[in-house]
Amino acid sequence: MFPELKNDRFIRALLKQPVDTTPVWMMRQAGRYLPEYRASRAHAGDFLSLCKNDEFACEVTLQPLERYELDAAILFSDILTIPDAMGQGLYFETGEGPKFKKVIRTEADVDALPIAKVNDLDYVMKAVTTIRNALGGRVPLIGFSGSPWTLATYMVEGGSSKDFRHIKGMMYKSPEILHELLRKLAISVTDYLNGQIKAGAQAVQIFDTWGGVLSGPKYQEFSLMYMKQIIDGLIRVHDGKKIPVIMFTKNGGQWLENMAASGTDALGLDWTTDMAEARARVGNKVALQGNIDPCVLYADKDVIRDQVGEVLAGFGNGSGHVFNLGHGIHQFVDPEQPKYLIDAVHELGAQYHQEASDQLDKLNNLD
Ligand code: CP3
Repeated sequence: MFPELKNDRFIRALLKQPVDTTPVWMMRQAGRYLPEYRASRAHAGDFLSLCKNDEFACEVTLQPLERYELDAAILFSDILTIPDAMGQGLYFETGEGPKFKKVIRTEADVDALPIAKVNDLDYVMKAVTTIRNALGGRVPLIGFSGSPWTLATYMVEGGSSKDFRHIKGMMYKSPEILHELLRKLAISVTDYLNGQIKAGAQAVQIFDTWGGVLSGPKYQEFSLMYMKQIIDGLIRVHDGKKIPVIMFTKNGGQWLENMAASGTDALGLDWTTDMAEARARVGNKVALQGNIDPCVLYADKDVIRDQVGEVLAGFGNGSGHVFNLGHGIHQFVDPEQPKYLIDAVHELGAQYHQEASDQLDKLNNLD
């Protein structure tokens, strides 16, 4: 049994239940912009050693929570643990991003790929449980995975890409090979996320970082369809608690209605989508997460506050908004800066939850 959750704003907002103020966390909140993260990484040796040791993973997960009043913690790991478990041999070269010893290009490559087994990802499950215990119910713990399409881009390109020529070439030339790869990934991701939920994750996010490089019809066929399969297969209630799902397709703003119909509880938005317009389009169907431009963190305190105010006003009154950056925090951000953003969200957010606060006051006065 894990300790009782003390701050449940994040979970409540995802489920559109009343909250006292808008909850906030930041994608990539544990990372290189924090000097204490760089020290832990030096201590562990390298990035993957941080991920593969539950004590280190726990240490860096908690670092941003020591500095800021965040409403959620996110598992410290990487989306590329899955291709690694499928035998691709993940490694990182400093300053160069992820690389694989083996790249997936042909039908034979795809056929030879095993489905990732939770057993081979035991170190992730162990990290989830260690972190959940260390949190002591302070805030909820988010588990995550890449989407099948986003994972496939790294597996087929062999690392990060600008033009996605190998995977898009495969998509147009031999779509059945890509579908087979995505099918294997969807099963792997479902098992992986369910494993994280059983190990203690209280919400899960699917990162579809590269869904937005597809045309509308191809997005539906090669990315959204597989995310839907995953969502259909997820454990939605665990230990009597709902486990909300967040789907984040970067640059997916033009497909909000389709994404909202996927069965997800919430959609993550990047900063190119207007929050007010997004809310008008999805109505009450899903909660929204986002979506301030991460570069706002290079500005002065007053500008950060104004920009936070704009995003909050864009969503407007009532629950169903989790404040976040529109994508991960940059490594060059001054670690003093996020504090201004997070404190502004809590302070300025309260006015949009007045009705909920009034109700809570009334209930308290009855006692
Ligand atoms: O949000 C968090 O604090 C949790 C940790 C987390 C990491 N990666 C740690 C990390 C999460 C949620 C991810 C997800 C991830 N990983 C995504 C999807 C999210 C997104 O940003 O869109 C992707 C595409 C990856 C793959 C990946 N991992 C790349 C492309 C890179 C190199 C990128 C870069 O900025 O250099 C990584 C490395 C990585 N993952 C780092 C961290 C803290 C930096 C590694 C280091 O310490 O040098």
